Amino acid sequence: MKIASAVFRCSSSRSSQCPTDGLPEFAFIGRSNVGKSSLVNMLTGHRGLAKVSGTPGKTRLINHFLINNTWYLVDLPGYGYARVSKSERSGFSRIILDYIGGRRELACLFVLIDSRLEPQKIDIEFLRLLGERQIPFALIFTKTDKLTSNQLESNLARYRRFLRTEWEQLPPMLVSSSEKGAGREDILDFIGKLQ
Ligand code: GTP
Ligand code: MG
Repeated sequence: MKIASAVFRCSSSRSSQCPTDGLPEFAFIGRSNVGKSSLVNMLTGHRGLAKVSGTPGKTRLINHFLINNTWYLVDLPGYGYARVSKSERSGFSRIILDYIGGRRELACLFVLIDSRLEPQKIDIEFLRLLGERQIPFALIFTKTDKLTSNQLESNLARYRRFLRTEWEQLPPMLVSSSEKGAGREDILDFIGKLQ
């Protein structure tokens, strides 16, 4: 799929404030600093479209970007960094739980995982939550420029082994480097096929 236009549409603090035009949404979620906003910029080819920072906790709201006037890329706040109140389940903020529970337009949630790390507890907890709620998701392993191709293969194999201990079926798995532009075609084709 080609991206002909990418426009910031709005920032929302809850799903009920999000666009009501019914267009399908493809959203990025994952630990703070994993590279969600960078991936929005890499895919759209607009460097400053989503705000990126080396300090975790940069994205605080639900950000909608209208692509080709027909679908949205959604950049979400990260988890695992900001303190959340005790009433919030398993460390995920109200804004994240509200978005994943309340958006019928959500066609696929991409859970971004740092390709350098072994499976992290908070990511696994989040995937379990998606499983319980039957929310469709795919994994994108980020920052692959920081690994050799052998290291990447070995880390992906480790992740697959881990997932098989809990999941009968493995989710779709993609890789990306926003630094190098790697994974762009695969991710856009994946999105294109779901529309
Ligand atoms: P929050 O909004 O805080 O949840 O973070 P985020 O997931 O949106 O991460 P963001 O895109 O702001 O990137 C965090 C840091 O990682 C920045 O310093 C980016 O430059 C860096 N980064 C993101 N993607 C890549 C990548 O593919 N390769 C490398 N080397 N660095 C990356
Ligand atoms: Mg961000």
